[in-house]
Amino acid sequence: MDRSRPIGVFDSGVGGLTVVRALMERLPLEGIVYFGDTARVPYGIKSVATIEHFTAQITEFLLRQDVKMLIVACNTMAAVAAQVVRERAGTIPVIDVIEAGARAAVGTALAAGIGVIGTPTTINSNAYARRIHELEPGARVYSQACPLFVPLVEEGWLDHPVTRMTAQEYLRPVLAEEIGSLVLGCTHYPLLKPLLKEVAGPAVRLVDSATTTAELAAATLQALDLASVRPQRPEYRFVVTDVPLRFQTIGERFLGRSFGPVERVDW
Ligand code: DGL
Repeated sequence: MDRSRPIGVFDSGVGGLTVVRALMERLPLEGIVYFGDTARVPYGIKSVATIEHFTAQITEFLLRQDVKMLIVACNTMAAVAAQVVRERAGTIPVIDVIEAGARAAVGTALAAGIGVIGTPTTINSNAYARRIHELEPGARVYSQACPLFVPLVEEGWLDHPVTRMTAQEYLRPVLAEEIGSLVLGCTHYPLLKPLLKEVAGPAVRLVDSATTTAELAAATLQALDLASVRPQRPEYRFVVTDVPLRFQTIGERFLGRSFGPVERVDW
């Protein structure tokens, strides 16, 4: 296996760039092909059958790019279609944000409960709670869908009174359960960290599924002897399904840096 092959990372749109950002920081020698399905985003309010179908298409596309590992950066796809990816990937390792987030959540003090927030499809799937209970059967998990957060983040309202009020409203029932950690179960939520920290208070640890996924990716590459050892700068490719203008503008906020040309794929 050629260790210099890129990692394939995918999401419903721009949000998975929070995972790419964490990967660039944690694994600076790894090349990345990022796929964002910008023509069909958002996934978080779509049905399981539709998401499975889209996920299969994206997986096939990235496998054709000869990637050495696949990362499901979208919590919604990870919640309802991770199996679709694993079935197609064969021997190519697959990691996903839910596995990473669930593992990080149970690593914290469990006397307190664990809050999980995400899109309606992610929360309705119960995927986080299921995985957390597999890892820690006694865990108390409190889940809450936060459908307005994705558009608020894309609007750039990261520190806006409307976003603060929305967060207070969504988090009220979860915070009433005396949680010790809150899993940010959606690609967009890491951008709301300062505001969520303020609303949740100092006693609640935020589990960021972007950084936990980068940690899991690093451990998996090491364990499988797949980590790149190239000394030169890695190549990053960004592929989307709609005209790239909005992706480019909003994406820089998610990625924390500017990026070069964006490719558009026509299915
Ligand atoms: N990427 C999605 C997630 O992490 C959020 C955006 C969407 O609904 O497609 O759940």
